[in-house]
Amino acid sequence: MRVSMAPSNPISRTVTSALSLFSGLDIESDRLWIKQNFPECLHILWQIVEAVAGPPRTSKALSSATCSKGTMLGAEIVWLMAKPNQLFACSVPAVALQPLLVLGMVTEVVISTTINCYRFLCLDSPKLAFLMADSEKEVVLITGCSEGGIGYALARAFASQGCLVVPTSRSLSSMKSLENDPRFFLQELDVVSEESVRRAVANTLDKFGRIDVLVNNAGVHLVAPLAEAPMSAVEHIFDTNVYGPMRLIQSIFPHMVVRRKGKIVNIGSVSALAPGPWAGVYSASKAALHALTDTLRLELSNFGISVISVAPGAIRSNIANSSAVSYGKMPEWKFYKPFESSIRARMVVSQGPESTPAEEFAKKTVAMVLKKNPPAWFSYGKLSTIMAILYHLPLSIRDYIYRLKF
Ligand SMILES: NC(=O)c1ccc[n+]([C@@H]2O[C@H](COP(=O)([O-])OP(=O)(O)OC[C@H]3O[C@@H](n4cnc5c(N)ncnc54)[C@H](OP(=O)(O)O)[C@@H]3O)[C@@H](O)[C@H]2O)c1
Repeated sequence: MRVSMAPSNPISRTVTSALSLFSGLDIESDRLWIKQNFPECLHILWQIVEAVAGPPRTSKALSSATCSKGTMLGAEIVWLMAKPNQLFACSVPAVALQPLLVLGMVTEVVISTTINCYRFLCLDSPKLAFLMADSEKEVVLITGCSEGGIGYALARAFASQGCLVVPTSRSLSSMKSLENDPRFFLQELDVVSEESVRRAVANTLDKFGRIDVLVNNAGVHLVAPLAEAPMSAVEHIFDTNVYGPMRLIQSIFPHMVVRRKGKIVNIGSVSALAPGPWAGVYSASKAALHALTDTLRLELSNFGISVISVAPGAIRSNIANSSAVSYGKMPEWKFYKPFESSIRARMVVSQGPESTPAEEFAKKTVAMVLKKNPPAWFSYGKLSTIMAILYHLPLSIRDYIYRLKF
């Protein structure tokens, strides 16, 4: 891919020198060669254009720009050009440019900003045409998508809404049924491993050039009395349910910031609203996630990123099975032995015959997430209303109700 640039004044020359500092960009007199990682280079280019020309004038004009949603290889070129075009009356209308790009023709475009003028020569390719077709679709990365769980149902629901979905899980074999469907780009991702997170995010950006929606869904349950729960198990729950989402967010945030666009969905739990006996570690981890989400929502809104807390009620999934596996690794209780049956019963509370099917929960959640202005909080599923009521009750009444039950 070659981009030519005509430095026409001191500012332009400064930009040109600045560009040469970045790997993948090489300046030869007035020619700028992009040698590698093209989408990343365009992010850098756009940052520099904004730094020199100032931020876009109105976000409304931006969101109505023809290609404002595009960030893939082909669309990025248009995006870079379409923004000034929309805002600063560039000489080539983006709408006229799009068919030329799609046809794979050589296009020369002048980008005008109020203070500078760049000339980009885009040598197009069939790959661009292919990418253009997908440039309007939301790219959604979801953690914990093993078959039978909420993540899997979310992946299918996002795909049914025309999104490009990156379902991830610790093992590709747990998502086998999605394997041959072109709407999915499966990735292995273990949320407790920074290296695994980095690799899956990099693969996704290489493939699509962007991530529009991150769904932090992966989670593990633990049933154990707090006073006897092994600390290693407590740490594992927090590592997965709290630090896992943080790892994903910190890895994806820089890419969302550059585009000033993105949604982060954190799957918490109604159990954090009114923590009862035997699932204290799990409830605390979800309460921590809700708290992080509340802060993130405020901190990230400055960058055009929405952050949403989703609190599922009792949803049919594999959670009781995985809970049973971790319970099997617990030591014999010393003081809580007489409560063994009550403790065990906590494992299946969310998996009764009236639990909400994961597909129903996923459909509602996806419809909410894909809204232009999604709500900050969304709770759905069996028991979600009861838990919301318990949350508001005086603690003495809540404790009384729990004592009756456990
Ligand atoms: N089901 C409910 O009633 C309910 C209620 C409230 C909240 N939630 C929350 O909803 C989310 C989904 O749970 P679910 O009900 O669908 O349970 P699930 O069927 O057990 O699914 C949990 C998913 O998380 C994955 N996971 C666990 N540790 C991971 C790690 N280190 N890295 C990556 N993935 C990991 C699991 O992968 P493996 O298959 O490899 O173990 C699985 O895909 C969880 O955050 C859960 O806390 C569920």
